[in-house]
Formats: sequence, structure tokens, C-alpha cells
Amino acid sequence: MKIDGTHYRSLWWNSENHVLEIIDQRWLPHEFRVIPVATMQDFADAIYQMRVRGAPLIGATAAYGMALAMAEDASDANMDAAWAFLEKTRPTAINLRWALDRCRAALRPLPEADRAAAALTLAHEIADEDVEINRRIGEHGLALIREIAARKPAGEPVRLLTHCNAGWLATVDWGTATSPMYHAQDAGIPLHVWVDETRPRNQGALTAWELGKHGVPHTYITDNAGGHLMQHGMVDMVITGTDRTTRRGDVCNKIGTYLKALAAHDNGVPFYVALPSPTIDWTVSDGVAEIPIEERDAQEVTHVQGLTDGGGLGTVQVTPTGTQGGNPAFDVTPNRLVTGLITERGVCDASEAGLSDLFPNFAKAAE
Ligand code: MRU
Repeated sequence: MKIDGTHYRSLWWNSENHVLEIIDQRWLPHEFRVIPVATMQDFADAIYQMRVRGAPLIGATAAYGMALAMAEDASDANMDAAWAFLEKTRPTAINLRWALDRCRAALRPLPEADRAAAALTLAHEIADEDVEINRRIGEHGLALIREIAARKPAGEPVRLLTHCNAGWLATVDWGTATSPMYHAQDAGIPLHVWVDETRPRNQGALTAWELGKHGVPHTYITDNAGGHLMQHGMVDMVITGTDRTTRRGDVCNKIGTYLKALAAHDNGVPFYVALPSPTIDWTVSDGVAEIPIEERDAQEVTHVQGLTDGGGLGTVQVTPTGTQGGNPAFDVTPNRLVTGLITERGVCDASEAGLSDLFPNFAKAAE
């Protein structure tokens, strides 16, 4: 997507310096910084410290990490070591393991001499595929937004609500939940997006930044405001992303998503999840029981980062000194609260039947 007229992806390969470059998201939305990711430790730090974040982007980054590992030492032992080193960086988003597994399965049968080049080609492929998947999610989501727009008086905006950042910054391009929004905006459908701030890391500020750069009207709201807005008929549709969706359609996403789904259900507001197929974990069924939930540093809760009155970036403590913080980073929305899953192959019910109709080969392979 564009930043002030220039097209960016959230990561790209610098072929001159032979290095991956990323937008360091820790400084957004206040500062736009691009950094190289040049060592295996850089890759692990980029993922763990959330310089890159969002399930699809984590997966694509890990693929480039495998490419670096193969360039350094293409042995089986180093391939396994790189897999394990990167896999442990974040536990919830399944795209990380999906990308690492895909790389290992493709590279293992190759002679060592061919692995470095093949790994880099595969990383590029994974990044390009992500862009195309999200573009298609946008087209399918656009059809849903069009239906809502058609039922409204001419010129009245479709009011969407989203949680966290499932935008182009969380993918390679387009975003998942934001792709239907960008498609609708480009199609001239009047829109307004309620953006949840998404404490503790305030990924909503990234969403607001992206939407603003694309000219999509939006309002940044507290995480607690969504239920009230829904009770007053001010939300037509919720669209979120997902970090891992089970084979029966339970959706794990940023902490607080479940509460929005409950409020949507209580108020008859459609609750859709934008779901790229690499985010489906075909090996698990019951999301609440089976998905590991990342517990992050309590300081993300007790402190908050932002722009100070002096204009620089700063961190302030919001709790009394010594107060203990708790920071589960994700929650699971059971499939019964999900109206539909917007995938690259179309929209389906959040159910095993719905997903396996669209992805019969994957469903069968996992049996
Ligand atoms: O902790 P984060 O910022 O990596 O979490 C991101 C989310 O929860 C997103 O909503 C999810 O990954 C979907 S991204 C397209």
C-alpha cells in the first residue's frame, strides 16, 4: 500500500546488499524507520520484539530467516537448528511454523549446494503469495460490504469495526481485515471504520495510520467502546484478523477479540474474520483448549509508549510502582460467535464443513 504516494511492502529484499529490509514497527505510527535484518539473531529479535508483527508477516520473515541460515550453512543440522531457533520466538501465530515447515520440507530433499538459492526463491514466493491471498480476501470481503451498502440510504457510510492491526503492516501487503476496506474505498463505497486501540501494544494506532494514509475515514476508540456502539446501531459489521484458526473455525486473535464477538452476537452485528489459508491450523480443533496463548512482558501493560509533549518518543508508567501486570496477548473466539470466514477462496461458515469445502486437500492431508 502507499505511504505518501510511494508504494511499500512491509518487507522487501535488497538485492544489492543481499539483505532483508523491514519497516521497524516499534516506532510506528510516530516514526518511519527501515532497518536491515542481517543475522539470525536479528531475525529472532525482529519477530520476538515485534519489529515485525502480525501472523502473515511473521511467517514471511521466518522464511527469509531460513534463507539466511541456508546461505550460512546448508547442512541438515543447521536447517533444523534454524527452524527451532526461529520457531520459539512467538508461540501463537501459526504462520510462523507453517512457513518454517514449508521451507524445511522443500529444502530437505535438495543437495546442499542448491539450498541457499532455493530457500531465497521460496521466501520470495511466500511473500508474493501472501500479497495475492490478501488481495483475494479483499475482493471477497468487498462483496459483503457492497451488500450492506446496498441496504443503506445512498451516501450513508458502511460502519465497520476492527480490532488490533490486521492491516498491510501485519502482512506483506493489503492486510487481511483491511483488504476489504481498501477495496471498498477504492470502489467508491462510503465507509467509516471504528478502530479499537488494542491495549497493551496499541496496534490500533498502526491501523489508524494505515487507514489515514489511504484516505479511509476512521475513528480511534477505546477497547471498551465497541459494545456501546453496537447497542446503538453504530456498527454494521466487525472484521478482524486471526493468528490461528482451528479446523472447526475457532478463531485465535489479539486479546479482546472475544469480547467484541460476544458484543456483536448480543446485538446481531455480523462478525467476520479475514482468514488467509496459512493461518488455518488443521491439526487443532478446540481453540480454547489447544492453542498456546503467548504471555508477554507485564511492562507492556504497566507502561505505555507514545509521543511526548516535547515531540520525542517516550514511555510512561500508568500503574502504581510495584503493581503486578498480566499480559495474555491473544484470546479465542469460539466458532459459534463467528458469522463467516473470509478466505482467499471465498467466504465460508466457521465450521469444519465450511473450511474443508473450500480447502479439501489441506483438510484431507491433516486427517
Ligand atoms: O501481537 P501481534 O501484533 O503480532 O498480533 C497481531 C494480531 O493479532 C493480528 O490481528 C493478526 O495477526 C492478524 S494479522 C493479519
